[in-house]
Amino acid sequence: MIEFQDARKVYRQGSRLIPALDGVSLRIAPGSFAVVMGPSGSGKSTLLHLAAGLDLPTSGEVRIDGIATAARTDDELTLLRRRRIGLVFQFFNLIPTLTVAENVSIPLLLDGVQKTTAHSKVEALLDRVGLRDRRDHYPDELSGGEMQRVAVVRALVTDPSILLADEPTGNLDSAAGRDILELIRAVARENGRTVVMVTHDASAAAFGDRLIRLRDGRVESER
Ligand SMILES: Nc1ncnc2c1ncn2[C@@H]1O[C@H](COP(=O)(O)OP(=O)(O)OP(=O)(O)O)[C@@H](O)[C@H]1O
Ligand SMILES: [Mg+2]
Repeated sequence: MIEFQDARKVYRQGSRLIPALDGVSLRIAPGSFAVVMGPSGSGKSTLLHLAAGLDLPTSGEVRIDGIATAARTDDELTLLRRRRIGLVFQFFNLIPTLTVAENVSIPLLLDGVQKTTAHSKVEALLDRVGLRDRRDHYPDELSGGEMQRVAVVRALVTDPSILLADEPTGNLDSAAGRDILELIRAVARENGRTVVMVTHDASAAAFGDRLIRLRDGRVESER
């Protein structure tokens, strides 16, 4: 569950104050898949950063599974993210010197999971997305769609309660993009996950069960 209560985020650039989020209140319940759209600069990425605890609100409150982020230390937020949140970005963010299987296992190894346990989870997930035969490949030996599938399974390997995706199809052609959207939608229906996806692609909005439109750092409409 993700909750925003009159959350504001003001960035300071020199003497200029930039209100990236200007009083956002939202509640995204477990089991729902919310799509966030809006013009460039409307605050979409800022909203995801706050929802991930990567950044804190300047005022108001953001709660992740009921935990107010502003009251937590950096170490607590790191643990919270590692255990509860999966993140997917437009540019995949895979580590180029590690194989597919190694990339996917990172979140488990960081969390102290035994190698044999990690191995079987990684294999099962790669199997599910049809990438078992790519397990020993390096990211630069994959297509964009394959890289993003690896990034999505890496985000899911710890079985997080929340999946956050920032333009996950922004760098893919429409067929590969559709595969990723279907994967994210399937994932959203499992274990009452909370999924929030930012996209510029109007056709992607149809995959979610909620559409939140931002404009100038505010929620312009919701359905
Ligand atoms: N670290 C930062 N420092 C200063 N200003 C920032 C910072 N991050 C974002 N901003 C500003 O906050 C506003 C919202 O940015 P944000 O990245 O959330 O927009 P966005 O909706 O994700 O846009 P896009 O569709 O282009 O990705 C913009 O005006 C941006 O310039
Ligand atoms: Mg953005």
